[in-house]
Amino acid sequence: MENLKSLTDEALALVAQSDDLASLDKVRVGYLGKKGQITALLKGLGKLSAAERPAAGAEINRAKQQVTESLDQRKQTLENRAIDLQLAEEAVDIGLAGRRSDVGGLHPVTRTIQRIESIFSSVGYTVAEGPEIEDDFHNFEALNIPSHHPARAMHDTFYVSENHVLRTHTSPVQIRTMIQQEPPIHVICPGRVYRCDSDLTHTPMFHQVEGLVVDKNISFAELKGTVDQFLKAFFEMDVPVRFRPSYFPFTEPSAEVDIQCSACRGAGCRICKETDWVEIMGCGMVHPNVFKACDIDAATFSGFAFGMGVERLAMMRYGVKDLRLFFENDFDFVVQF
Ligand code: FA5
Ligand code: MG
Repeated sequence: MENLKSLTDEALALVAQSDDLASLDKVRVGYLGKKGQITALLKGLGKLSAAERPAAGAEINRAKQQVTESLDQRKQTLENRAIDLQLAEEAVDIGLAGRRSDVGGLHPVTRTIQRIESIFSSVGYTVAEGPEIEDDFHNFEALNIPSHHPARAMHDTFYVSENHVLRTHTSPVQIRTMIQQEPPIHVICPGRVYRCDSDLTHTPMFHQVEGLVVDKNISFAELKGTVDQFLKAFFEMDVPVRFRPSYFPFTEPSAEVDIQCSACRGAGCRICKETDWVEIMGCGMVHPNVFKACDIDAATFSGFAFGMGVERLAMMRYGVKDLRLFFENDFDFVVQF
């Protein structure tokens, strides 16, 4: 009993020093637990005489009460501190500026197609579309490319089945249009085409815009004038253009159209393969066999057709040095246009 005061002070000091709930509980067990020091004093009351017992019991209970209260208080303090800490850690700084979503833009290929469409629409052409998975008849047969024809080797074709391909050009839309419509016809047909091909100026998927005009007395001069005027409008300048004699089974005569390489302005570079010129389209007068396949009278009507490479035109207009950049979806590249 003579130690009760110092025991209590010691307990209170340890409570005050406890910095977390675990060490605080150790203090509780040490004084008030089953084998705790204050508990031991209470258990020892029996050894006192009946006269001493009530006063001693009251004193020990008061000490127990005091330590219990101090433990509870300290516990509350430590718990509050833990909550404050958690709140501080999880705090959201509502003063921070938010992340804004960037404004997107049209892909340069989309822009180029829209530009081509608007130039041709302004002189009366309509826009037609066809399927990307095309059958042998529309992609080859009706275009005067029968199955044994060596021209099939010019197209590195992706076959979907024996009779279906990923269209290798937009020319099958010519066939679909001529089967559905009577002349006069003035259409352009933009879309994706597929070839097993990849380098600086070739990609396995690219875009073409087909053009088709069928009417009475359509001549090669009109084809040349149309292409020339289109290119002037498209590039907004007098680009050097040349027509080279060429061969397509579905046109006769046929030509390929080159423009002066805008990357080197005709000085020679990797893009034009040191030739100073870049091929942008094939064209020609619709072959009588094609008219026949579409049930159009070749004695009454004539027509011209062309098929241009959209990425090549976009490359030349925007000064892009590698065609593959159009398909990598690098945001920094795409937002420049
Ligand atoms: C054709 O595809 C013909 N159908 C064009 C045509 C239509 C001729 C109507 C006559 C009448 P060619 O394979 O040359 O032709 O392709 C046309 C244009 O597409 C090329 O001049 C070029 O600009 C572009 N091109 C061709 N292959 C690729 C490729 N792998 N990647 C990007 N552009 C290409
Ligand atoms: Mg070609």
